[in-house]
Amino acid sequence: MREQPFNAEPPRSALVSSYVTPVDFFYKRNHGPIPVVDDIERKLPKYVVTVTLQCAGNRRTAMSNVKKVRGVGWDVSAIGNAVWGGAKLADVLELVGISKMTSTTKSGGKHVEFVSIDKCKEENGGPYKASIPLSQATNPEADVLLAYEMNGEPLNRDHGYPLRVVVPGVIGARSVKWLDSINIIAEECQGFFMQKDYKMFPPSVNWDNINWSTRRPQMDFPVQCAICSLEDMTAIKPGKVKVCGYAASGGGRGIERVDVSVDGGKTWVEASKQQKTGVPYIADDMSSDKWAWVLYEVTVDVPHSTEIVAKAVDSAANVQPKNRRVWNLRGILNSSWHRVPSRVGHSNM
Ligand code: MTE
Repeated sequence: MREQPFNAEPPRSALVSSYVTPVDFFYKRNHGPIPVVDDIERKLPKYVVTVTLQCAGNRRTAMSNVKKVRGVGWDVSAIGNAVWGGAKLADVLELVGISKMTSTTKSGGKHVEFVSIDKCKEENGGPYKASIPLSQATNPEADVLLAYEMNGEPLNRDHGYPLRVVVPGVIGARSVKWLDSINIIAEECQGFFMQKDYKMFPPSVNWDNINWSTRRPQMDFPVQCAICSLEDMTAIKPGKVKVCGYAASGGGRGIERVDVSVDGGKTWVEASKQQKTGVPYIADDMSSDKWAWVLYEVTVDVPHSTEIVAKAVDSAANVQPKNRRVWNLRGILNSSWHRVPSRVGHSNM
Protein backbone atom coordinates (compact mmCIF):
# COMPACT_ATOMS: atom_id res chain seq x y z
CA MET A 1 0.00 0.00 0.00
CA ARG A 2 1.33 3.43 -0.91
CA GLU A 3 1.08 6.20 1.61
CA GLN A 4 -1.24 9.10 0.68
CA PRO A 5 -0.24 11.59 -0.61
CA PHE A 6 2.50 9.60 -2.29
CA ASN A 7 5.97 11.19 -2.07
CA ALA A 8 9.15 9.39 -3.06
CA GLU A 9 12.79 10.00 -4.02
CA PRO A 10 15.44 7.53 -5.20
CA PRO A 11 18.72 6.81 -3.36
CA ARG A 12 21.47 9.34 -4.17
CA SER A 13 23.61 6.86 -6.09
CA ALA A 14 20.75 5.77 -8.38
CA LEU A 15 19.88 9.39 -9.16
CA VAL A 16 23.02 10.14 -11.13
CA SER A 17 23.42 6.77 -12.86
CA SER A 18 22.20 8.43 -16.07
CA TYR A 19 21.79 11.94 -17.51
CA VAL A 20 18.12 11.28 -18.27
CA THR A 21 16.42 10.08 -15.10
CA PRO A 22 14.39 6.89 -15.69
CA VAL A 23 10.73 7.40 -14.76
CA ASP A 24 11.01 4.91 -11.88
CA PHE A 25 13.83 6.98 -10.32
CA PHE A 26 12.15 10.35 -10.89
CA TYR A 27 10.96 11.88 -7.59
CA LYS A 28 7.25 12.03 -7.02
CA ARG A 29 5.58 14.88 -5.11
CA ASN A 30 1.84 14.94 -4.56
CA HIS A 31 -0.48 16.86 -2.28
CA GLY A 32 -3.56 14.69 -2.76
CA PRO A 33 -4.57 11.28 -4.15
CA ILE A 34 -3.49 10.55 -7.75
CA PRO A 35 -6.58 10.88 -10.00
CA VAL A 36 -7.71 8.54 -12.79
CA VAL A 37 -8.10 10.58 -15.99
CA ASP A 38 -9.05 9.77 -19.62
CA ASP A 39 -6.58 10.33 -22.47
CA ILE A 40 -6.51 13.51 -24.60
CA GLU A 41 -6.43 14.33 -28.30
CA ARG A 42 -3.26 15.90 -29.76
CA LYS A 43 -3.47 18.46 -32.56
CA LEU A 44 -0.53 20.85 -32.22
CA PRO A 45 3.12 20.21 -33.19
CA LYS A 46 5.06 18.25 -30.59
CA TYR A 47 8.17 19.74 -28.98
CA VAL A 48 10.69 17.70 -27.04
CA VAL A 49 12.62 19.53 -24.32
CA THR A 50 15.01 18.18 -21.68
CA VAL A 51 14.08 19.80 -18.38
CA THR A 52 15.24 19.27 -14.81
CA LEU A 53 12.39 19.51 -12.32
CA GLN A 54 13.34 20.19 -8.74
CA CYS A 55 11.06 20.31 -5.73
CA ALA A 56 11.56 23.54 -3.77
CA GLY A 57 11.97 21.33 -0.69
CA ASN A 58 14.93 19.35 -2.08
CA ARG A 59 17.59 18.98 0.68
CA ARG A 60 15.08 20.03 3.34
CA THR A 61 16.24 17.39 5.86
CA ALA A 62 19.66 19.03 6.08
CA MET A 63 18.01 22.38 6.77
CA SER A 64 16.08 20.79 9.64
CA ASN A 65 19.40 19.80 11.22
CA VAL A 66 20.02 23.51 11.82
CA LYS A 67 16.55 24.23 13.20
CA LYS A 68 13.34 22.27 12.62
CA VAL A 69 11.40 23.13 9.47
CA ARG A 70 7.97 21.92 8.34
CA GLY A 71 7.59 19.76 5.26
CA VAL A 72 8.37 16.44 3.59
CA GLY A 73 11.88 15.37 4.64
CA TRP A 74 13.78 15.17 1.38
CA ASP A 75 17.41 14.14 1.06
CA VAL A 76 19.13 15.35 -2.15
CA SER A 77 17.04 13.46 -4.72
CA ALA A 78 13.83 15.49 -5.01
CA ILE A 79 15.11 16.40 -8.46
CA GLY A 80 15.26 14.64 -11.81
CA ASN A 81 16.02 15.31 -15.45
CA ALA A 82 13.56 14.11 -18.08
CA VAL A 83 12.89 14.50 -21.77
CA TRP A 84 9.40 15.96 -21.92
CA GLY A 85 7.27 15.87 -25.07
CA GLY A 86 4.18 17.96 -25.63
CA ALA A 87 2.66 21.12 -27.08
CA LYS A 88 4.16 24.52 -26.39
CA LEU A 89 1.87 26.57 -24.18
CA ALA A 90 2.62 29.55 -26.43
CA ASP A 91 1.06 27.64 -29.38
CA VAL A 92 -1.99 26.67 -27.33
CA LEU A 93 -2.59 30.27 -26.26
CA GLU A 94 -2.24 31.44 -29.85
CA LEU A 95 -5.13 29.12 -30.76
CA VAL A 96 -7.37 31.16 -28.46
CA GLY A 97 -6.18 34.47 -29.87
CA ILE A 98 -3.32 35.39 -27.55
CA SER A 99 -0.29 36.20 -29.69
CA LYS A 100 3.28 35.17 -28.94
CA MET A 101 5.17 37.54 -26.62
CA THR A 102 2.09 39.05 -24.99
CA SER A 103 2.40 40.31 -21.43
CA THR A 104 -1.11 41.77 -21.03
CA THR A 105 -4.27 40.87 -22.94
CA LYS A 106 -6.79 43.53 -24.03
CA SER A 107 -8.99 42.55 -21.10
CA GLY A 108 -6.10 42.92 -18.64
CA GLY A 109 -5.00 39.27 -18.32
CA LYS A 110 -1.41 39.06 -17.04
CA HIS A 111 -1.14 35.54 -15.63
CA VAL A 112 -1.88 32.02 -16.82
CA GLU A 113 -3.44 29.80 -14.18
CA PHE A 114 -3.27 26.02 -14.34
CA VAL A 115 -5.99 24.14 -12.48
CA SER A 116 -5.63 20.46 -11.80
CA ILE A 117 -7.98 17.53 -11.35
CA ASP A 118 -6.54 16.26 -8.05
CA LYS A 119 -8.01 17.62 -4.85
CA CYS A 120 -6.01 18.44 -1.75
CA LYS A 121 -6.67 19.37 1.84
CA GLU A 122 -4.61 22.57 1.67
CA GLU A 123 -7.18 23.86 -0.84
CA ASN A 124 -10.01 22.68 1.45
CA GLY A 125 -10.79 19.83 -0.93
CA GLY A 126 -10.39 22.01 -4.05
CA PRO A 127 -7.94 21.42 -6.92
CA TYR A 128 -4.18 21.99 -6.86
CA LYS A 129 -3.38 25.12 -8.89
CA ALA A 130 -0.60 27.57 -9.78
CA SER A 131 0.13 30.33 -12.27
CA ILE A 132 2.98 31.81 -14.29
CA PRO A 133 3.22 35.25 -15.92
CA LEU A 134 1.58 35.53 -19.35
CA SER A 135 4.84 36.94 -20.74
CA GLN A 136 6.59 33.64 -19.90
CA ALA A 137 3.69 31.50 -21.13
CA THR A 138 3.58 33.21 -24.54
CA ASN A 139 7.35 33.26 -25.04
CA PRO A 140 8.23 30.25 -27.23
CA GLU A 141 11.84 30.49 -25.99
CA ALA A 142 10.68 29.87 -22.40
CA ASP A 143 9.73 26.34 -23.57
CA VAL A 144 6.74 26.00 -21.24
CA LEU A 145 5.10 22.72 -22.26
CA LEU A 146 1.79 21.02 -21.87
CA ALA A 147 3.49 17.64 -21.75
CA TYR A 148 1.98 14.25 -22.51
CA GLU A 149 5.26 12.32 -22.81
CA MET A 150 8.15 11.70 -20.43
CA ASN A 151 11.29 10.04 -21.75
CA GLY A 152 9.53 9.04 -24.98
CA GLU A 153 6.65 7.24 -23.23
CA PRO A 154 3.18 8.53 -22.40
CA LEU A 155 3.26 10.26 -19.00
CA ASN A 156 2.42 7.83 -16.23
CA ARG A 157 -0.20 8.55 -13.60
CA ASP A 158 2.32 9.54 -10.91
CA HIS A 159 3.71 12.26 -13.15
CA GLY A 160 0.41 13.69 -14.39
CA TYR A 161 -1.20 11.46 -17.06
CA PRO A 162 -2.58 12.46 -19.47
CA LEU A 163 -1.37 16.09 -19.44
CA ARG A 164 0.82 18.22 -17.19
CA VAL A 165 2.53 21.56 -17.32
CA VAL A 166 6.34 21.68 -17.40
CA VAL A 167 7.75 25.12 -16.52
CA PRO A 168 11.51 24.95 -17.16
CA GLY A 169 13.90 26.59 -14.70
CA VAL A 170 11.20 27.12 -12.08
CA ILE A 171 10.46 25.21 -8.83
CA GLY A 172 8.47 22.02 -9.46
CA ALA A 173 5.37 23.35 -7.66
CA ARG A 174 4.40 25.41 -10.73
CA SER A 175 4.47 22.38 -13.06
CA VAL A 176 0.86 21.39 -12.45
CA LYS A 177 0.04 17.71 -13.08
CA TRP A 178 -3.30 16.26 -14.30
CA LEU A 179 -4.16 19.56 -15.96
CA ASP A 180 -7.90 20.26 -16.09
CA SER A 181 -8.20 23.88 -17.21
CA ILE A 182 -6.23 27.03 -18.03
CA ASN A 183 -7.44 30.51 -17.05
CA ILE A 184 -6.11 33.89 -18.13
CA ILE A 185 -6.31 36.08 -15.04
CA ALA A 186 -5.36 39.61 -13.98
CA GLU A 187 -3.67 38.74 -10.66
CA GLU A 188 -1.49 35.73 -10.02
CA CYS A 189 -3.28 32.56 -8.86
CA GLN A 190 -4.64 32.90 -5.33
CA GLY A 191 -4.26 29.17 -4.56
CA PHE A 192 -2.65 27.94 -1.33
CA PHE A 193 0.59 26.81 -2.97
CA MET A 194 1.11 30.22 -4.59
CA GLN A 195 0.08 32.39 -1.64
CA LYS A 196 0.58 30.41 1.58
CA ASP A 197 3.48 28.16 0.69
CA TYR A 198 6.59 28.06 -1.52
CA LYS A 199 7.66 31.60 -0.65
CA MET A 200 11.12 32.49 0.57
CA PHE A 201 11.30 34.14 4.01
CA PRO A 202 14.34 35.22 6.03
CA PRO A 203 15.38 33.24 9.14
CA SER A 204 13.78 35.85 11.44
CA VAL A 205 10.28 34.90 10.25
CA ASN A 206 8.55 32.18 12.28
CA TRP A 207 5.04 30.66 12.39
CA ASP A 208 3.89 33.34 14.85
CA ASN A 209 4.97 36.44 12.93
CA ILE A 210 4.65 35.29 9.31
CA ASN A 211 2.82 37.59 6.89
CA TRP A 212 2.51 35.66 3.64
CA SER A 213 1.40 38.70 1.65
CA THR A 214 4.80 40.39 2.00
CA ARG A 215 6.49 38.03 -0.52
CA ARG A 216 5.94 36.95 -4.10
CA PRO A 217 5.55 33.26 -4.94
CA GLN A 218 8.94 31.66 -5.59
CA MET A 219 9.54 30.97 -9.27
CA ASP A 220 13.16 30.32 -10.48
CA PHE A 221 15.22 27.96 -8.36
CA PRO A 222 18.77 28.98 -7.34
CA VAL A 223 22.06 27.37 -8.35
CA GLN A 224 22.26 23.95 -6.73
CA CYS A 225 24.49 20.89 -6.61
CA ALA A 226 24.78 17.74 -4.54
CA ILE A 227 27.19 14.89 -4.07
CA CYS A 228 25.41 11.66 -4.94
CA SER A 229 28.21 9.08 -4.89
CA LEU A 230 28.60 9.20 -1.09
CA GLU A 231 26.04 8.82 1.66
CA ASP A 232 26.61 10.76 4.87
CA MET A 233 29.21 8.99 7.03
CA THR A 234 30.20 6.55 4.28
CA ALA A 235 33.25 4.57 5.37
CA ILE A 236 35.95 4.98 2.72
CA LYS A 237 39.49 3.71 2.32
CA PRO A 238 42.23 6.36 2.52
CA GLY A 239 43.33 7.48 -0.95
CA LYS A 240 41.56 8.30 -4.18
CA VAL A 241 37.80 8.73 -4.07
CA LYS A 242 35.52 9.44 -7.02
CA VAL A 243 33.01 12.16 -6.20
CA CYS A 244 30.07 12.67 -8.54
CA GLY A 245 26.66 14.27 -8.52
CA TYR A 246 24.44 16.77 -10.27
CA ALA A 247 24.41 20.57 -10.62
CA ALA A 248 21.57 22.72 -11.93
CA SER A 249 20.45 26.32 -11.92
CA GLY A 250 17.11 27.99 -12.51
CA GLY A 251 15.99 30.42 -15.20
CA GLY A 252 17.92 28.63 -17.97
CA ARG A 253 21.30 29.54 -16.47
CA GLY A 254 24.05 27.04 -17.26
CA ILE A 255 26.60 25.64 -14.83
CA GLU A 256 29.92 27.43 -15.06
CA ARG A 257 31.82 25.35 -12.52
CA VAL A 258 31.46 22.66 -9.89
CA ASP A 259 34.14 22.71 -7.17
CA VAL A 260 34.86 19.94 -4.69
CA SER A 261 36.82 20.30 -1.45
CA VAL A 262 38.17 17.71 0.97
CA ASP A 263 39.30 20.24 3.58
CA GLY A 264 36.01 21.90 4.47
CA GLY A 265 36.26 24.51 1.72
CA LYS A 266 39.80 25.87 2.18
CA THR A 267 40.95 24.50 -1.16
CA TRP A 268 38.96 23.27 -4.13
CA VAL A 269 39.40 21.17 -7.25
CA GLU A 270 37.23 21.70 -10.28
CA ALA A 271 35.12 18.74 -11.42
CA SER A 272 34.54 17.77 -15.05
CA LYS A 273 30.97 18.22 -16.24
CA GLN A 274 28.87 16.64 -18.94
CA GLN A 275 25.41 16.37 -20.36
CA LYS A 276 26.17 14.19 -23.40
CA THR A 277 28.47 11.20 -22.96
CA GLY A 278 32.02 12.00 -23.97
CA VAL A 279 31.31 15.67 -24.77
CA PRO A 280 32.80 18.16 -22.27
CA TYR A 281 30.10 20.56 -21.17
CA ILE A 282 30.52 24.32 -21.53
CA ALA A 283 27.86 26.56 -19.96
CA ASP A 284 25.81 28.05 -22.78
CA ASP A 285 22.50 29.73 -22.03
CA MET A 286 21.51 29.39 -25.70
CA SER A 287 21.99 25.61 -25.84
CA SER A 288 19.04 23.30 -26.30
CA ASP A 289 19.74 21.61 -22.96
CA LYS A 290 19.92 24.86 -21.01
CA TRP A 291 17.02 23.75 -18.76
CA ALA A 292 18.78 20.51 -17.86
CA TRP A 293 21.20 19.57 -15.11
CA VAL A 294 24.83 18.65 -15.67
CA LEU A 295 26.46 15.63 -14.10
CA TYR A 296 29.91 16.19 -12.65
CA GLU A 297 32.76 13.96 -11.57
CA VAL A 298 36.16 14.40 -9.96
CA THR A 299 38.66 12.12 -8.24
CA VAL A 300 40.07 13.51 -5.01
CA ASP A 301 42.58 12.31 -2.45
CA VAL A 302 40.99 11.76 0.97
CA PRO A 303 43.72 10.92 3.50
CA HIS A 304 41.65 11.18 6.68
CA SER A 305 38.09 11.56 7.96
CA THR A 306 36.66 14.82 6.71
CA GLU A 307 33.69 16.61 5.23
CA ILE A 308 33.67 16.35 1.44
CA VAL A 309 32.05 19.52 0.08
CA ALA A 310 30.65 20.50 -3.33
CA LYS A 311 29.48 23.87 -4.61
CA ALA A 312 28.41 25.06 -8.04
CA VAL A 313 28.66 28.41 -9.81
CA ASP A 314 26.16 29.29 -12.55
CA SER A 315 26.57 31.30 -15.75
CA ALA A 316 25.53 34.52 -13.94
CA ALA A 317 28.33 33.83 -11.40
CA ASN A 318 25.79 33.03 -8.69
CA VAL A 319 27.39 30.66 -6.23
CA GLN A 320 25.90 28.39 -3.60
CA PRO A 321 26.19 29.96 -0.14
CA LYS A 322 28.69 28.47 2.29
CA ASN A 323 26.46 28.46 5.33
CA ARG A 324 22.89 27.46 5.88
CA ARG A 325 21.98 31.14 5.96
CA VAL A 326 19.16 30.31 3.60
CA TRP A 327 17.27 28.76 6.55
CA ASN A 328 13.53 29.46 6.31
CA LEU A 329 10.57 28.04 8.17
CA ARG A 330 9.27 25.93 5.25
CA GLY A 331 12.71 24.59 4.47
CA ILE A 332 12.65 25.53 0.80
CA LEU A 333 15.57 26.23 -1.53
CA ASN A 334 18.32 24.75 0.59
CA SER A 335 21.17 25.50 -1.76
CA SER A 336 24.04 25.79 0.71
CA TRP A 337 27.31 23.94 -0.01
CA HIS A 338 26.60 20.22 0.05
CA ARG A 339 28.68 18.64 2.81
CA VAL A 340 29.08 14.90 3.20
CA PRO A 341 30.84 13.80 6.37
CA SER A 342 33.06 10.83 5.45
CA ARG A 343 34.85 8.41 7.72
CA VAL A 344 38.22 7.18 6.53
CA GLY A 345 39.37 3.94 8.14
CA HIS A 346 42.33 1.60 7.60
CA SER A 347 40.97 -1.69 8.91
CA ASN A 348 37.88 -3.90 8.46
CA MET A 349 37.02 -2.27 5.15
N1 MTE B 1 0.38 19.12 -9.54
C1 MTE B 1 -0.73 18.63 -8.93
N2 MTE B 1 -1.87 18.60 -9.63
N3 MTE B 1 -0.71 18.19 -7.66
C2 MTE B 1 0.44 18.22 -6.91
O1 MTE B 1 0.43 17.81 -5.74
N4 MTE B 1 2.83 18.85 -6.86
C3 MTE B 1 3.76 19.84 -7.40
C4 MTE B 1 3.90 19.72 -8.90
N5 MTE B 1 2.62 19.64 -9.53
C5 MTE B 1 1.61 18.74 -7.52
C6 MTE B 1 1.52 19.15 -8.87
C7 MTE B 1 5.09 19.78 -6.81
S1 MTE B 1 5.29 20.51 -5.29
C8 MTE B 1 6.17 19.26 -7.49
S2 MTE B 1 7.71 19.38 -6.86
C9 MTE B 1 6.01 18.59 -8.78
O2 MTE B 1 4.65 18.56 -9.20
C10 MTE B 1 6.52 17.18 -8.74
O3 MTE B 1 6.38 16.54 -9.96
P1 MTE B 1 6.66 14.98 -10.09
O4 MTE B 1 5.85 14.25 -9.05
O5 MTE B 1 6.28 14.62 -11.49
O6 MTE B 1 8.14 14.78 -9.85
